[in-house]
Amino acid sequence: MYQIDLRGRHALVMGVANHRSLSWAIAQLIAQAGARVCLTYASERLKSSVEELAATLPHAFTTECDVTKDYEIDEVRKKIEGRWGSLEMFVHGIAFARKEDLEGSFVATPREGFQLALDVSAYSFINVTNRVLPLLEKNGASIVTLSYLAANRAVPNYNVMGSAKAVLEQSVRQLAYELGPQRIRVNAISAGPVRTLAARSIAGFTTMEEMFEQRSPLHRHIDSDDVGAAAAYLLSDDAQNVTGTTLYVDSGYHAMGM
Ligand SMILES: NC(=O)c1ccc[n+]([C@@H]2O[C@H](COP(=O)([O-])OP(=O)(O)OC[C@H]3O[C@@H](n4cnc5c(N)ncnc54)[C@H](O)[C@@H]3O)[C@@H](O)[C@H]2O)c1
Repeated sequence: MYQIDLRGRHALVMGVANHRSLSWAIAQLIAQAGARVCLTYASERLKSSVEELAATLPHAFTTECDVTKDYEIDEVRKKIEGRWGSLEMFVHGIAFARKEDLEGSFVATPREGFQLALDVSAYSFINVTNRVLPLLEKNGASIVTLSYLAANRAVPNYNVMGSAKAVLEQSVRQLAYELGPQRIRVNAISAGPVRTLAARSIAGFTTMEEMFEQRSPLHRHIDSDDVGAAAAYLLSDDAQNVTGTTLYVDSGYHAMGM
């Protein structure tokens, strides 16, 4: 029977807040495929719920990491280095923008809101990759981040997060180019709408879901396991010649002009 095999591999998975998080779906699937997983959570407030989830996976451990703090990222690297010595996978499922910057007028986005959204949602991808690079370089690695169609289309209310996703997808291509010689692959998954904590902060999310079902070629919603399966593929050797790409897991919605 064909199965994705990630035995003997180690994964850093950032962005689990609760059981609905897309990163959690990815963590579960790659753990089922044999990977050992380190889950990070953004703050003390999320500690107990993420620990409870991690306890359901074999060999998983958790640690705090707010990606706006370089020393916390470095602590994560040290912990992984001490425990495993190498990293073969990095999953980045992190995004944040202030509520007021995800509604109303994009042209009036304040500097602090823009900087915060870009810092947490895009720069963190580059910065964490850089800070764990010595571990990724040991055996070669695969990196996956999570994006959305607003990276290259105008989407009502997505505002500054569209800017962040555009930077994120450009970073995927640039990092893929730069890290290819070290056998590190870098890809994004652009997902259709899924009801998660982050999704709830987008004004008009319900309308987005309705239009998605009406207009996508497959006329159906995606769920977090669809994202998990796509990520498991990209993280595995089955995708050994896939890098620098954005894989759409969106029932084909991105292909439509109307
Ligand atoms: N849910 C969707 O419809 C959808 C669609 C396309 C793309 N995405 C993307 O998927 C990714 C994961 O989002 P999700 O939908 O699973 O929601 P989520 O709320 O479960 O995940 C977002 C995560 O970002 C973390 N985070 C925020 N600020 C942080 C910080 N300073 N340091 C560390 N972590 C921080 C949160 O704690 C949370 O775990 C995001 O990049 C999101 O934009 C989501």
